[in-house]
Amino acid sequence: MISPSILSCNFLRLEEEINMLNSSEADFIHIDVMDGLFVPNITIGIPVIKQISQIAKKPLDVHLMIVQPERYIKDFYEAGANIITIHYEACTHLHRTIQQIKSFGIKAGVSINPHTPVSLLKYILNDVYLVLVMSVNPGFGGQSFIDFSYEKVKELDILRKQLNLSFLIEVDGGVDLNNAKELYACGADILVAGYTVFSSQNPLETISLIKRQRYSLPNK
Ligand code: DX5
Ligand code: ZN
Repeated sequence: MISPSILSCNFLRLEEEINMLNSSEADFIHIDVMDGLFVPNITIGIPVIKQISQIAKKPLDVHLMIVQPERYIKDFYEAGANIITIHYEACTHLHRTIQQIKSFGIKAGVSINPHTPVSLLKYILNDVYLVLVMSVNPGFGGQSFIDFSYEKVKELDILRKQLNLSFLIEVDGGVDLNNAKELYACGADILVAGYTVFSSQNPLETISLIKRQRYSLPNK
């Protein structure tokens, strides 16, 4: 599956960009919310997501890179988020905040920064719809993929099998046509791609090409 990140889209033409994603093979629309505290950048917030949700035909995959996300879960739910992913590093009471997200009847995800070991998630894995592995340090689109991320995806996939769980593994940052196939082979289910999609000549085709990297693999 693929979740194109609109961080690299043309915000002056947001409606066209969302319609392009609506007509594409994208499975989700990835929206990066940054607060200038958890990460050194500020992006878009609740009013913009509310408007996107009025025209989006794909589930909104909202990635919160904000401190104390528990303050805003209700607002993002009301704005139309279908999945809310929060950061392990941004929550003192991660388990409680995951339950808070689920109490609105939407899906909850947990994300880890590159330096955070997968093993720290063991006791939350049963409660989440997805785990988002950051394969760059969060904050900006268009950064280079960090190579040890493959290992983290593999570890998560092993843990998923050992614990007999069904959470999805999503990978975010520096995804392109050179690493997508290997990421899927390591166990990734959803790839986020921003720069690769929106800087390409033909975003529709690029979305389809990334997605197809999975189907060119033998069965795992
Ligand atoms: C980075 C964001 C990513 C970003 C990915 O902090 O979480 O979702 O948009 O962008 P690319 O695919 O350009 O690395
Ligand atoms: Zn993201």
